[in-house]
Amino acid sequence: MIVCVCKSVSDRKIRASIEDGMDSFDELQFELGVASCCGKCAESVRDVMMQSGVCASRCGFEHHPQAVPLTFYERKAA
Ligand code: FES
Repeated sequence: MIVCVCKSVSDRKIRASIEDGMDSFDELQFELGVASCCGKCAESVRDVMMQSGVCASRCGFEHHPQAVPLTFYERKAA
């Protein structure tokens, strides 16, 4: 699913990038462009990072048990 609508970046692409060694929010932002336009995807990107095992100190997000579930946006075909 698309996490960053502005840059058309999917959760799969974020996970692949993490597996390739990008393990900080800043790296993902620089390399993929996530959260660099409207910024609304930042929390979802951090959630994907946490689910991929990136520790809170690298994604800058503390996990809370009552955290709001992931919100994904889907792009409709024109
Ligand atoms: S949705 Fe990611 S920067 Fe706008």
